[in-house]
Amino acid sequence: MTVHDRRAFIIGGTGQIGRATAARLTAAGYAVTLGHRRPRPDAAKPGAAGLDGITSVQVDRADTEALLRALDGHDLVVDTVAFTPLHGAQLAQLAGRVGSLVVISSGAVYQAPGLPVPIPETWPTIERDTHDYPAGKAALERRLLATPGLPVSILRTGVLHGPYGTSLDHWSFIKRALDKRPYVVIAQDGRSRFPTSAVANVAELIHLCARRPGARVLNVADDPLTVAEIGARIFAVMGHEAEIITFAGPSRPDGLGFNPWNVPEPIVFSMDKARAELGYRPAVPYDDALRQVIEWAVPAVSEAGGRWQEVFPDLIDRHGPDVWFPYAAEDAYVAGATR
Ligand SMILES: NC(=O)c1ccc[n+]([C@@H]2O[C@H](COP(=O)([O-])OP(=O)(O)OC[C@H]3O[C@@H](n4cnc5c(N)ncnc54)[C@H](OP(=O)(O)O)[C@@H]3O)[C@@H](O)[C@H]2O)c1
Repeated sequence: MTVHDRRAFIIGGTGQIGRATAARLTAAGYAVTLGHRRPRPDAAKPGAAGLDGITSVQVDRADTEALLRALDGHDLVVDTVAFTPLHGAQLAQLAGRVGSLVVISSGAVYQAPGLPVPIPETWPTIERDTHDYPAGKAALERRLLATPGLPVSILRTGVLHGPYGTSLDHWSFIKRALDKRPYVVIAQDGRSRFPTSAVANVAELIHLCARRPGARVLNVADDPLTVAEIGARIFAVMGHEAEIITFAGPSRPDGLGFNPWNVPEPIVFSMDKARAELGYRPAVPYDDALRQVIEWAVPAVSEAGGRWQEVFPDLIDRHGPDVWFPYAAEDAYVAGATR
């Protein structure tokens, strides 16, 4: 039986970051409470494997009083679902009432175009008076950092991948391996680089921040592989042999060449600060992170009767249903190229 001598609360604890973080923190000796609105499907059962030290509470962060009551007195509060300065104002009230905080932000806050490669945390963030996601996150960060006496680590993540994610971009390659596609066609010469973050490694950095509380901003992303390299790694992990065919320029309207990470200029986060300040190193190598997510995603889609759109609704929300697997367009392209 583990002795849990510190207490952590994760707002959004049943999501992908929340679950990975709960596992990391319980391994480090924390008693962890998961906060979320809906009933938890796999609610802690006494003695259930991996759930030692984890409890959960239904709380909607929109109810500030209930939220603060739930958070009071914890050694660590992790917030995975803060998006606006109002959420920042809620968290600001925790100064002196909790040990420290870690709040999940996003690399979407960086001012573009003209991003350096790699992007350091000192690069300016957007400042505009709109209610969109990046502007909300940037304003949230400013609100938190302006609060005196608030030991808050703000983590700017890339595109997340991990078990229980609803926006798993890696599915664009995983499904091709399941479908035994002999090739994949990728635009931008397959050389686009876009930051991705394995949730196990986000959890690792959260734990390091908890050990050394402070007011800081840190990037957290995987090694900056190209789209073609990521595809090749996924295929290799799944034991699938496929040719990666690329062409210059953007994807076609019929989806040919589409990949969610296709960008004309590379977007790469610097990890120097996390390494220098906290000694961060990925706890889980990239291929192992891939294995973890594949081992979750394949049965999850199978249990949904193959309807991947139900398991990953965010993929459809962001890019629509039609661009992900344009097999007919690919076959025509490859047939044309070899004729
Ligand atoms: N997905 C990406 O690629 C990406 C990229 C960059 C940054 N991020 C950031 O990552 C964070 C999302 O983390 P995630 O992917 O781990 O989340 P997730 O898997 O979507 O899970 C969200 C969690 O929050 C809970 N929740 C949602 N609304 C809530 C509320 N009002 N009160 C209390 N609990 C609530 C959900 O449970 P209930 O529904 O039961 O409440 C669930 O536990 C966001 O801050 C996002 O900006 C994501």
